[in-house]
Amino acid sequence: MGCVLSGWGWPRRTSVDHVAPEPLLPTLDLSLQQRQLLLESWRLIQQDIAKVGVILFIRLFETHPECKDVFFLFRDVDDLHGLANSKDLRAHGLRVLSFVEKSVARIDNSAQLEDLALELGRSHYRYKAPPKYYQYVGTEFISAVSPILKDKWAPELENGWKNLFAYICAVMERGYKEEENRMASSKSSTPKLPHEGQALAV
Ligand code: HEM
Repeated sequence: MGCVLSGWGWPRRTSVDHVAPEPLLPTLDLSLQQRQLLLESWRLIQQDIAKVGVILFIRLFETHPECKDVFFLFRDVDDLHGLANSKDLRAHGLRVLSFVEKSVARIDNSAQLEDLALELGRSHYRYKAPPKYYQYVGTEFISAVSPILKDKWAPELENGWKNLFAYICAVMERGYKEEENRMASSKSSTPKLPHEGQALAV
């Protein structure tokens, strides 16, 4: 049995017996049963994938309007329920759920899943979407899919989805920070133009 807290991005050390502290990596802790439940539930969720994406984002924007402001396409939309027919929201929801699909397909290959989520975190730095908001997506995903699964929804399945999203969010955060640091160091190491910071010689 997996416990609720087991996969909530709790870090592990990359190796032991090191004098210098090693970077901490998030771990994906899913029991065998949770893995099976996730795969089975995904087959059902997939049938309503476009609907789930739209519901997820309308709920996200309702509960956390600050997330809507990050999206160039949606920041000026006031009528959230009008978004139910938006082709742009449908397309965005499908992109996000395709990522969830790829993640579920990689639950037994944590190295591949990590690469995928790291890259996504890096791209979110470029989108100016900060990590403090990522966890809301998992919460709204669960609210959107639980009614679809009806009596198949169970605490063990819910914990499986929570653990998977917690892991994705933790790795995305890492990717975001890596990109942030990379940009900061590339700015500080950019050579100054000859005239910068100097009085012009007359
Ligand atoms: C678990 C959390 C999240 C996942 C899995 C996720 C996934 C994705 C994916 C797959 C894309 C498509 C582009 C790409 O692959 O780089 C994307 C784009 C984007 N995401 Fe996220 N996202 C998450 C959270 C958020 C949050 C919370 C925000 C806003 C606060 C956000 C803002 C954006 C923006 C602005 C784009 C670019 C949209 C465009 O195409 O114009 N994301 N996201």
